[in-house]
Order: sequence, then structure tokens, then C-alpha cells
Amino acid sequence: MNPQERIDELSDQLNHYNQKYYQDAVSLISDQEFDFLLKELEELEKKYPELAREDSPTHRVGGTITKSFETVAHRYPMLSLSNTYSEQELIDWDERIRKILDKDSYEYICEIKFDGISLSMVYENGVLKRGVTRGDGQRGDDITTNVKTIRSLPLRVRSELQTSAVFEIRGEGFLPNKEFQRINAEREDIGEPALANPRNAASGTFKMQDSSVVASRNLDCFIYQFISEDDRFQTHEESLIDLKSMGFNVSQSWKKVNTIQEVIEYINEWSDKRHTLPCATDGIVIKVNSYRQREELGFTAKSPRWAIAYKYKAESKSTLLKGVTYQVGRTGAVTPVAELEAIELSMTTVRRATLHNADEIKRLGLCIGDYVFVEKAGEIIPKVTGVDASRPSALFREEVQFPTACPSCGTGLVRTEGEAAYYCPNEKTCPPQVKGRIEHFIQRKAMNIDSLGEGKIEILIENRMIDDASDLYRLNYDSLLGLEKVHVDEETGKERKVSFKEKTVQNILDGIEKSKSQPFSKVLFAIGIRFVGETTAQKLAAYFKDINQLKLATYDALMTVPDVGGKVAQSILDYFSEEANVQFVERLEAAGLQMVSESVALEVEGNALDGKTFLYSGTFENYSREALEQKIEANGGKLVSGVSKKLDFLIVGVNAGPSKISKAETLGVKMISESDFEGMLTPPVS
Ligand code: IVH
Repeated sequence: MNPQERIDELSDQLNHYNQKYYQDAVSLISDQEFDFLLKELEELEKKYPELAREDSPTHRVGGTITKSFETVAHRYPMLSLSNTYSEQELIDWDERIRKILDKDSYEYICEIKFDGISLSMVYENGVLKRGVTRGDGQRGDDITTNVKTIRSLPLRVRSELQTSAVFEIRGEGFLPNKEFQRINAEREDIGEPALANPRNAASGTFKMQDSSVVASRNLDCFIYQFISEDDRFQTHEESLIDLKSMGFNVSQSWKKVNTIQEVIEYINEWSDKRHTLPCATDGIVIKVNSYRQREELGFTAKSPRWAIAYKYKAESKSTLLKGVTYQVGRTGAVTPVAELEAIELSMTTVRRATLHNADEIKRLGLCIGDYVFVEKAGEIIPKVTGVDASRPSALFREEVQFPTACPSCGTGLVRTEGEAAYYCPNEKTCPPQVKGRIEHFIQRKAMNIDSLGEGKIEILIENRMIDDASDLYRLNYDSLLGLEKVHVDEETGKERKVSFKEKTVQNILDGIEKSKSQPFSKVLFAIGIRFVGETTAQKLAAYFKDINQLKLATYDALMTVPDVGGKVAQSILDYFSEEANVQFVERLEAAGLQMVSESVALEVEGNALDGKTFLYSGTFENYSREALEQKIEANGGKLVSGVSKKLDFLIVGVNAGPSKISKAETLGVKMISESDFEGMLTPPVS
């Protein structure tokens, strides 16, 4: 089979598995087999980039860095919808429709209004060619590489289902609620402020430059519109049914109705049920079903007359503010939390709500003992929106005073210019910071020592057995046996005794020992450099190969790593400029943790090129560029980026750059051929 045939076969096969999995929830092969085939395809595409298909499943995992998105014109403008919060206005709208359509009978399709960002996707000959944001309605950003990471979106539709040569579909791109919560937990963990709601998070993610980060966020899209030149469909209903069978993700929440009363029933039916959907929603869209009637109804300047959005009012309830507590995070940031009398909001019980920071408390003018309004921001995170002046305050009314000292260790709080949060500067011994750092270290995504979960860390800290994560590697059986503590669950208030018996101790020690084989990227994430999350740690580990290279990296070198911006680069420099951090990392290294990237560790072939620097130019018979680079590094050589006096060897291939050659000649740098280079790898027999 030639490469093109194999690429075609793999692409078709993997696209089929993907579609079955994401549309029909059917797993035809194991994850491992899938990854294996995908890897084979990735390698073939790397070798023969010109043979890669536009609908290649490798696009799902991203990898392209787009410097800035091109602005492109929409084939048909993307209009908005007129909207209302009132049932009466819906009834009035229905009256107008009835009048314009005269005596003609009509139907409506009711759909959920998803709260994400609108997207337009253009397919040519059944292949997804372009994904564009709404922009100003006339022109939007071309975000095709990011749109292709949406796994429920077919990259190619089967030809027998395909309609015209070119068609467009529109839908709402969103970040699933679960992903939103996961990302926010991750952000909190590395000291980034939480994203306000899933909509903003989706919009930010769709516009990220690095599509591999986008892919890691599992965006999704519900499709609600089909546009083409041919008259394939008479009604919206037909289009929704066909889109679904073509493999598009059409939410099955839509319903065909005959009267405005039925529309109102649909609105009531979904008012609570919508919270069970995987994404944020903010209303209902009502559309005339017949395309002929839509044409008759036409458009106003901004929106179609044949559709309207009914928006649900954000559910807001008032409840008693019983107190404000202050949480100290791993990074020392102090977050105020409103302690509320329990209320039911959007189908969950709310007892606490974040107050973000001191400015927010001031802005809201909060007093303990007041009744306050609580809403869900983007229907997920409870938020205090103001004081309910219509309800009398409790007798114990008292102004909320943001503390000046750390509620945990008493150290005076500080506030950095331009930042909203107050910090406890006592990084070393403030208990929640110490505990937070160790919890971060042992978590599954980091060193994965789950035998230390559920309150066991507290026991170790309270008994002064660990001050930082490196102390974990000095624990032994005898010192752990017999430790115990009564653990009180924060949510339920239930007490539970945790005690270290023989089996527990052995599990803990086994878990700690096993963590020594976690790869360098996980260690790098675990040590907890501010703003260095899981993905950034992976990119840093791939780029710098070992901890010493990272420690010595300059600001400029850090900035060349994908996904690393000024804030992250500065934070890494700050981290390694602290002697205590350097020593901490050294203790971990001495304990046997992986401080070298796996690929490098595995690929060491010899030391024949030790201490020598190399640069290559042109193409080679036996090596791709990457293979040559790997060969140099695997044998102890170092690659440099330009011809200078420091360069030991320039490897000259076919079509080598003349400027490099003449510069090497001028500086007296030794030039060698591919076979000279190979000769260096196998030292002559003496
Ligand atoms: S139909 C002429 N259907 O709401 C506009 N839009 O305010 C036709 N949206 O830009 C849009 N769910 O981003 C339609 N089921 C749905 C929708 C929906 C969410 C968004 C869409 C649009 C905005 C209009």
C-alpha cells in the first residue's frame, strides 16, 4: 500500500470511529488502538505533509499556532434575534405573524437558546473548509483550526447524504459545563482568577492561538441552521432531521408546535429542565417552520421577523448573609466567601457564594445580617448581586470588614499594585499555603499519590512531619504508624477518625515510592510554579528537556516556548531566583524524582558527540531534520541556532544555504558531510 492509500484508509477509519463515538456513543475500538492508529497517521502526515487530507482526524488534536486570525466575509450576514422577557410580547409577536401570513396556517419550531458563541461552518464537496465567528455579522474571524477540534463536528459528511457542492451550517459553540468547572479548578490551582462564566470561557477558548490547547478543552457545538443555494428543504424541521442524520450535533430538545400557547408550555417545561443540558442556556428560540412563510415574513434591518428569542430571567433569590469567611489558597490569595442561609437556585442548594475580593464587598455595600440577592453567573457559579433592601436586616447587623491580617497565621496581608486580591506573604509556614502546595503536589495530575488523600496530609503537617513536599520522601514506616486525627467534613460537619494502621502506612509509602517514576512534565507541574499549569508544564518539559536547562533559561528563551507568555516567563524566573525554591527542587532530585524529559532519557545512545556544537543546512539522505536533531542530542551533541565562532561543526546537506557556508568559511568553522557526521557516531576501532 502506498503512503497516500494508507493515509486515506487511516483517515476514513478514524473519522468513522470518531463519529460513532461522539454522535452515537458507540466505542468500536479501544482508546489504545485508536491512539495507535492516530499516531501512525500523524507520523505519515509528518513525513508526507502534501498527502495529508483536509478532513484528517489529526486536526482534532490541534497543534497549529495561528498568529492572528484572518477576517473573512460571511456569504450571508449573521443576523441577531429580537428578544423578549415577556409572555405578552410573545403573544403580540404571534399576532403580527398571523396578520402577515393572512389566513395561512403555520407551525413553530421551539429550540433552546444556547449561550455560547455563534459559529458558521462552510462545507465544500462535503469537506469542512472553514469555521468563522460571527464577528460584526458581516465579517468574522477565521478560526478553522480551532473549530476542527470540536469532535462532534464532522470533518467530512458522507457523500450520499451530501446536498449541494457548497453548504453552510450554523450553530452555537460552547464549553461544556463540566469542562468549565475543570478549567476553573485548574486556574485556581495555579493562581489565575476564575473565568466568570462558560460563555466567556468559550469565547476566549475559540480565539486562542494554540489549537492544541483548544483541543485539550473539549469544546462542543450544537447545530441549528442549514444554508445552501438549492431548495432541498421545505421546512426547518426537515433540515434538523437531515442534519442529525448527516452526523451533526443537533440537540434533541427542539419541538414542533402549532400555537403560541404550546410555545409557552415549552418555555415552562424547559425553565428548570434546561439546567440538565451540558451547556449554559439563556432562553428559547421560536422559529416559523415553513421556509416559504419565512420568505413572506422577511427581515427587519437587524433580525428576521420569522424568529424571536424568549429569555429566561436569571433566577435571583434573596437570603440572609450569615457571615463572611476568608479562604487562603495555595498561592496565599485571600478569597472572601459569603455564608448564606440555604436556598434553592437553578436546581441546586446554595449555601456559599464567592465574593471575589475586597473591592467587590465594598461595591455591594454588604453587611452581615442583611438579606442579599443571589444569582447564578452563567447559571453555574452562585454570585451575590446586591442587598435586598425590601427585607429587614437581622438584629446582629454588622459591616463586613476585610481582614488586615491572615485569618490563618496572622501575618499582615499585602496587595500588589494592579491586583485585586490581598495575599498572605508568609509562604513558608502559613498552614493553608503549606497544605495547599502539598495537596497540589500529590494530586492525580501531578505526582498522583492518592494514598495520601482524605485528611492524611493534615495529620502529617500537624505532627510536624512534613513542611514541604520533599519531606514526603523521608517518611518511614515507624514514624507513621499510630498517627491519628478526628477529621471534620466541611460540608456535612460529620466527624470521622483517620488513623494510620499497618496497611494504611504501607499504602502511603508505596504511593510515595511509585511517584518517583512520574515523568518530568508532571514533576514540573507538581512543584507549583505560579501560572504553570499542566499544559504549560508539558510544553516546558518538551522544550527544555531537563530541570537544569529550565533553571538557566533566560526570559527570551522562555518566551519562545509555545503557550508561554510574559507572565509565565517572569514567574518561572522569579521562582528560580529564590534560593529556597532551588533547594527544594534539589531535594526532590536527590530523592530520585524525574528531572529529565522522558524522550531524552530514553533516547540516549552514546556520548560520542559530548560537548560539541552542531548546526545543519539543507536536506539529508538518511535523516529528516527532526531525526538529525534527535541523533545529535541522543549522542551528547548540542544544537545551536546560527553560525558563530562557538559552532564546532556545520553539517552540509543538499541545497545547503550559501550564506551559512560562506559565514562558516570566514569564521573557520569546520564543515562536514552527512557521512562524515555518521562516522563521528561510531568511533574508529583502535
Ligand atoms: S437561530 C437570525 N437558534 O442566539 C439568527 N440562534 O441572539 C438565527 N443562539 O447569534 C439564529 N441558540 O448565537 C438560533 N437554537 C438557536 C440558538 C441561537 C443560541 C444564539 C446565536 C445567535 C443569537 C441570537
